Amino acid sequence: MACRDASPVIEYRETAEGLEARQLAGFFVDWLRQPTPEAHLDILHRSANVVVAIDQESDRVVGFVTAISDGVLSAYISLLEVLPEYQGRGIGSEVMRRLLKQLEGLYMVDTLCDVDVQAYYARFGMRRATGMRIRRYDRIPGGETGG
Ligand SMILES: CC(C)(COP(=O)(O)OP(=O)(O)OC[C@H]1O[C@@H](n2cnc3c(N)ncnc32)[C@H](O)[C@@H]1OP(=O)(O)O)[C@@H](O)C(=O)NCCC(=O)NCCS
Repeated sequence: MACRDASPVIEYRETAEGLEARQLAGFFVDWLRQPTPEAHLDILHRSANVVVAIDQESDRVVGFVTAISDGVLSAYISLLEVLPEYQGRGIGSEVMRRLLKQLEGLYMVDTLCDVDVQAYYARFGMRRATGMRIRRYDRIPGGETGG
């Protein structure tokens, strides 16, 4: 389904089928090591849930969200990003709305994020919680040093 914003025209898809790595440039802004577009495509294919936003004119993916899930009780929102030049147009909200709709039958929907994004997730009914984590930057597939 295509949704007309002021401009550009953004199409939302709830599958990674048919996507190509060339459509995935520019993501992972500010990451110390950036997954390649090929690794990004792999992530989209392997995630249990995905929503992508595509600029119909350029045919680029301009926003996406992924979740990993057991499909029974739990899901974890693993990645959410909108390209900087497309932010503030409702794209993040629409991919989140569609993802949460996909996950509405599950008991747990969790994510870890920086403190400055907590208020954003709160817009979708998520609450602050504590968490634990491991990060191994040298394991990012195809990781290239970013800015
Ligand atoms: C967070 C992000 C996905 C939002 O996407 P977006 O398409 O710009 O968001 P939307 O256009 O749907 O929503 C914009 C609204 O959210 C608000 N908002 C944006 N970032 C926010 C933040 N960090 N905290 C609280 N509110 C925020 C805006 O002020 C705007 O409010 P308004 O609708 O009242 O004007 C995007 O800024 C992004 O990709 N950031 C970098 C990656 C990131 O932080 N990912 C999530 C954590 S891992």
